Amino acid sequence: MAETITIIDDRTGKKVTVPVTDGVFASTALRELDPNLRMYDPAFLSTAACQSSITYLDGEKGILRYRGYPIEQLAEKSTFLEVAYLLLNGELPDNDQFAKWDYDVTHHTMIHENMRKRFVDGFHYDAHPMGMFISAIAALGTFYDDAQDVFDTDNLNKQILRLVAKVPTIAAMTYRFSSGLPFVLPNNSMSYATNFLNMMYRIGDDYEVDPVLARAMDVLFILHADHEQNCGTTAMRVVASANSDPYSATAAAASALYGPLHGGANEAVVRMLTEIGDVKNIPAFIESVKRGEGKLMGFGHRVYKNFDPRATIIKKSAYEVFEITGTNPLLDVALKLEEVALNDEYFASRRLYPNVDFYSGLIYQALGFPVSMFTVLFAIPRTVGWLAHMSELLRDDEQKISRPRQWYTGVDERNYTDIKKR
Ligand code: CMC
Repeated sequence: MAETITIIDDRTGKKVTVPVTDGVFASTALRELDPNLRMYDPAFLSTAACQSSITYLDGEKGILRYRGYPIEQLAEKSTFLEVAYLLLNGELPDNDQFAKWDYDVTHHTMIHENMRKRFVDGFHYDAHPMGMFISAIAALGTFYDDAQDVFDTDNLNKQILRLVAKVPTIAAMTYRFSSGLPFVLPNNSMSYATNFLNMMYRIGDDYEVDPVLARAMDVLFILHADHEQNCGTTAMRVVASANSDPYSATAAAASALYGPLHGGANEAVVRMLTEIGDVKNIPAFIESVKRGEGKLMGFGHRVYKNFDPRATIIKKSAYEVFEITGTNPLLDVALKLEEVALNDEYFASRRLYPNVDFYSGLIYQALGFPVSMFTVLFAIPRTVGWLAHMSELLRDDEQKISRPRQWYTGVDERNYTDIKKR
């Protein structure tokens, strides 16, 4: 028998019975009780704003799947570009499909010279790479006069291809600008991650990307590619619901990601570990967090309440990277901090566990990235997830422009008084 929920309006005695599917019921049914009835749900704690078939997340069990495939299998067996195809198209590619996708992405990595010479050169010398990244993505859209036509599927896919291909180039460009280094052009003979590392670090001819490090980068890209309705993806969906072009919508999503509670957390973790400095300072730091003087960055998640499966994979990946690069001196602080927090009643009772950002910063640092680049590294693969959600949204007949209601709590009507009388 189908499950239902019955809601009774005690003010009028009216009742409405609605089907519950997968724990979800359509709250629009409440309007049958009273057309002005609204649900109050700050920060969307219990609101499903869309149907989606891209990513499945079970926070209690620590499950993350892209299009049904467990993240553990994808991280072990797949590549980022294959995962990108999967997220965007719904299925893993066959040989021919992958060869075409790989070729197309590889051959769209260049950006217009004006982006580099005129646009990026205009930033202040110490501009934050993430601020530059966000602006550059929005600016990129102005180079394509077909960017606005989001309902022509082939055209939208062309913009998606451009964005997926060009985000590493833009990301590397922000770093090279910040470091005063000449830009390195994309290399069509390299894989996605190798090409990115090459654009980041090549100086002259004496740079070879270590394949183990390139694979670690690729795995990090896979882990960050999508995470259903997080803050950045919600920003993407809200902006895309106004039928804005994919470049503007991606820039909006990246702006959300920039925040320290979201993609900025990996940067905050390394700053926190650096500040703690030594394992002997951990107890005092933990006590200060418990007094509410700050957060344990890299801990806690809105959805994961037991463990974050991405954190488990990243921790393993970190050791593989450290084999090549040498251990990050902050690793000891991180390991001890994790141990102390997991055994502390404050964190246990609130179900706070390490999230994806707790260890990712340490790998990024070992790979040579400055802390200010960390969120940009998150934005590169997440661009794929954002665009998969944009495509899904535009094909969803139930969607309209996002426009939540509010609960007005301001003053009632009053008359204007002249400034001399106030
Ligand atoms: N350190 C100390 N206390 C915490 C932390 C933390 N990292 N996270 C949550 N709490 C406490 C919080 O103060 C609250 O305590 P109380 O019940 O006494 O008021 C309780 O735990 C519940 O927290 P909340 O703020 O209601 O939880 P939320 O779901 O709104 O926030 C979060 C989720 C990720 C924003 C939060 O855990 C946090 O700020 N963590 C640190 C930042 C971080 O690592 N962010 C990366 C998230 S993963 C990457 C991504 O998806 O972007």
